[in-house]
Amino acid sequence: MSTVNYYESCAREYADASMGANLDHVYQRFLPALKPEATILDAGCGAGRDMKLFTQLGFKVMGFDKSVELAKIACHHSGQTVHVCSFMEFPAQQKRYDAVWAMASLLHVPRAELVDTMKHLSTGLVPGGRFYLSLKVGEGCRPTRGTIEERYSPEEAKEAIASAGLGLSEFWYTGARQDNLEPVTWMNFIAIKPA
Ligand SMILES: C[S@@+](CC[C@H](N)C(=O)[O-])C[C@H]1O[C@@H](n2cnc3c(N)ncnc32)[C@H](O)[C@@H]1O
Repeated sequence: MSTVNYYESCAREYADASMGANLDHVYQRFLPALKPEATILDAGCGAGRDMKLFTQLGFKVMGFDKSVELAKIACHHSGQTVHVCSFMEFPAQQKRYDAVWAMASLLHVPRAELVDTMKHLSTGLVPGGRFYLSLKVGEGCRPTRGTIEERYSPEEAKEAIASAGLGLSEFWYTGARQDNLEPVTWMNFIAIKPA
């Protein structure tokens, strides 16, 4: 099963599980530096939990996901148009946004493509714009429930961010949680597109 087929097959269950997550500690790091009228791109938006919140807070929001079913759910939750496309298919060069939000999504990109994917998503990011991403700590590719799931050391992830032409601003770990009985630690990054 491919990554997208996995999410298609369990879109409703994934939506129910993800909508209740308490991510205030991440929002508090990411949002305060944005202008009230900022536009946020949610890259791999899943069920639209964060698109919904950002919209409620008054930000302009655009989002996309490769899963048709999750995009439909995200559209319903957020009231926003949600494009169905992959990271590289998103027409970043035709858009302009102040921030990229890629929570738990870029781990599904094959590691050889991570830098180019971040470069692509940065195309429409304004100079000085913020790029949030989270990745799992670990080594190599760990296929999980049929999805491609890449894991990184902090050094590898920081190198990829630098190679994508972004300047690292903040890095922190999020507390481990159980995922299929395996402890998982997330790395969170806020990078800035140089002015
Ligand atoms: C773990 S979920 C995270 C969803 C959401 N960001 C959240 O935090 O709830 C990963 C998401 O990435 C999407 N995804 C995986 N590969 C993708 C790709 N190549 N292009 C766009 N979206 C992708 C999946 O469909 C899924 O919605």
